[in-house]
Amino acid sequence: MTLGKKENESSAPANDIVLRLLIVDDDLDNLALMRQVFENEPVEVFVTGDTSEGLDLFRTKRPQIVTLALLMPQMGGMEMMANILAIDPGVDVILITRHYSTDAAVEAIKKGAYDYLTKPISVARFRETLRELLSHAQLRQHSQELEGEMIDAFQFEGMIGRSPLMLDLFRKINRVARHFRTILLIGETGTGKELAAKALHRLGPRPTSPFITANCSAWAESLLETELFGCVKGAFTGATQDRKGVFEYANGGTLFLDEIGDMPVSSQSKLLRVLQNQEIQRVGSPIVHKVDVRVIAASSRDLHVMVAENKFRQDLYYRLSMMEIQVPRLADRREDLPLLERYMVHSFAVQSNKQIRGLTRRAQAVLSRYSWPGNVRELENVIGHGCIMAEGGIIDIHNLPEYLRILQHSATVDAGEKEIVSLMEMTQRYTREVVDRIHNKAQAAHLLGISRTKLYRLLSKKQIGESDKIG
Ligand SMILES: Nc1ncnc2c1ncn2[C@@H]1O[C@H](COP(=O)(O)OP(=O)(O)O)[C@@H](O)[C@H]1O
Ligand SMILES: [Mg+2]
Repeated sequence: MTLGKKENESSAPANDIVLRLLIVDDDLDNLALMRQVFENEPVEVFVTGDTSEGLDLFRTKRPQIVTLALLMPQMGGMEMMANILAIDPGVDVILITRHYSTDAAVEAIKKGAYDYLTKPISVARFRETLRELLSHAQLRQHSQELEGEMIDAFQFEGMIGRSPLMLDLFRKINRVARHFRTILLIGETGTGKELAAKALHRLGPRPTSPFITANCSAWAESLLETELFGCVKGAFTGATQDRKGVFEYANGGTLFLDEIGDMPVSSQSKLLRVLQNQEIQRVGSPIVHKVDVRVIAASSRDLHVMVAENKFRQDLYYRLSMMEIQVPRLADRREDLPLLERYMVHSFAVQSNKQIRGLTRRAQAVLSRYSWPGNVRELENVIGHGCIMAEGGIIDIHNLPEYLRILQHSATVDAGEKEIVSLMEMTQRYTREVVDRIHNKAQAAHLLGISRTKLYRLLSKKQIGESDKIG
């Protein structure tokens, strides 16, 4: 049953959203009152006295607001609210009761109710609540549209970026995707190598074929080969049955070999053979299988240096590096930060149905000063943390993780009364200062973008100035 429907009053902009309201109450007096409340409001109203019909209406009409009587014969309002919020946690539910109880009100709000009203309902208050909700809903819709347009313009296969380095990466991916058989992606952890690999796969000739990921650092040497090539029953203790490896699973498609620098040298020669002949042998089997697999290898370590140190086979490196793509560090493309921040806030807001507009300028300034050793993945974690902690729809400095909050004042860190000191000494001083300020060496190392070992080394060194004086 639909009543009080008023669409697009002449003064309202054409793209204004229609607010839909569902009322579930077995009290007819109350329904009559509602009719009066909505007489002059641009709201589409659905009413029912039956809870299961109410749930059906909810599913089909998708109202943004639901009012429920707390006590109904078939299903209590609290239970019905739980059902509704499980379908769509963004809905505003108002519970209505005849007998006010603080406990019930607190419980309702805790469980996600927007408001809790007692009969007889004050029409003025209800209308006010409704207007509030309407303007929220419109604001949300509006800002999501704007953000959406903005982000779409700088999106490439799920990767966000507008910096010259990223635009260059997008162009490269576009150029090589149709032609590669093997590609090497080099970049620090969290820079988006896996995203780039997926983009290469999707833009390649067989986008619907399998894309399989294997992480070379996740397996012990003996297990890695079984993981890659499969094994036959009895090949080793524990091999109780024949098993396919990832090369077979990826047949016809793409295999993403992550952290290839961690692959033991002995397995590297076997991988090279596969790349050359497109043939694999399961561990323990003499039989050779033909496979047709494109391989994208990724590494956060510098393979060139590893070759020089005899930790990576030169022939495999040459084979892989014929098409090598660098994925830039976030610190080298800070101009992407505002866009990434907006994109992430937007996706968290949609995911969690929480209204978050963005970051305060102060919080943005803090993020722009940071070195981002964990790259985009770390930024994602920071924004996620901020969205959870944010109150009032905006992420401020105090919603950021503690290790970043100290950067609030770091613009004023000076190098010491204008004296000129060596870079090493300045490094040591600054390291000490950071450790003194945050009292946590692991966090300090993370913040400085160095390993803990290196931090300890810097802290344990005598001040260069001191030893010079003595000498
Ligand atoms: N340019 C980007 N735009 C949006 N999200 C990104 C971008 N680069 C990385 N991410 C996100 O950051 C996280 C880490 O990316 P990933 O591809 O796993 O990095 P890597 O493989 O280099 O460690 C993922 O959640 C990914 O979605
Ligand atoms: Mg990765």
